[in-house]
Amino acid sequence: MGKLIFATGNKGKLKEVKQIFENTSYEIIAPFELGNDVDVEETETTFEGNAFLKAKAIYDIYRTPVIADDSGLEVDALDGVPGVYSARYAGKNCTFDDNNNKLLKVLNNPSLPRTARFVACAIFYDGTKKIVSTGYLEGSIAHEKTGAMGFGYDPVFIPKGADRTLGQYSFEEKNKMSHRYKAFEGLKEKMKQLT
Ligand code: IMP
Repeated sequence: MGKLIFATGNKGKLKEVKQIFENTSYEIIAPFELGNDVDVEETETTFEGNAFLKAKAIYDIYRTPVIADDSGLEVDALDGVPGVYSARYAGKNCTFDDNNNKLLKVLNNPSLPRTARFVACAIFYDGTKKIVSTGYLEGSIAHEKTGAMGFGYDPVFIPKGADRTLGQYSFEEKNKMSHRYKAFEGLKEKMKQLT
């Protein structure tokens, strides 16, 4: 119980995860709120591997229980690419828009299926115990970018059964169904075994 450090520098994710843990006895706090801007290099080849790298790096600094996540987009026509490389799909230092433009260009072939999913792996780590939870959001890649909400691939991702992109969802709507919501809700449930 008490403070739980969320190993992220992403203010949007921090807001999402603070909301998820709102009715618990945990207080979620990010390293940058403690004056520490830690950028952990994601060198693993799986979401779980990268999430654990972040959790361990922050745990080693603060010696306080940590949660961390890693997420990305898996496109079926590309055998799961960009996957763990989602942030850098269009190259080092690329923007979200560069990534979306590249994806739309690569999929610009009517014979390719457009199904895809967001994946998020959330981890709790306290130096000895490690708890893992994964969440998915199935959907497809739109033919063009729409909407200015959210971040990353949101303007080109249409959740299964929906008729608009995540870029057209409000923060509250997205945070009730996203891959990260499912991963952290699952993690929160599993963390009950700690009490
Ligand atoms: P990370 O989990 O911060 O390493 O995120 C990796 C990348 O996956 C992000 O930079 C985005 O490109 C993509 N991504 C992860 N979650 C989302 C989401 O909810 N919407 C849009 N893009 C996302």
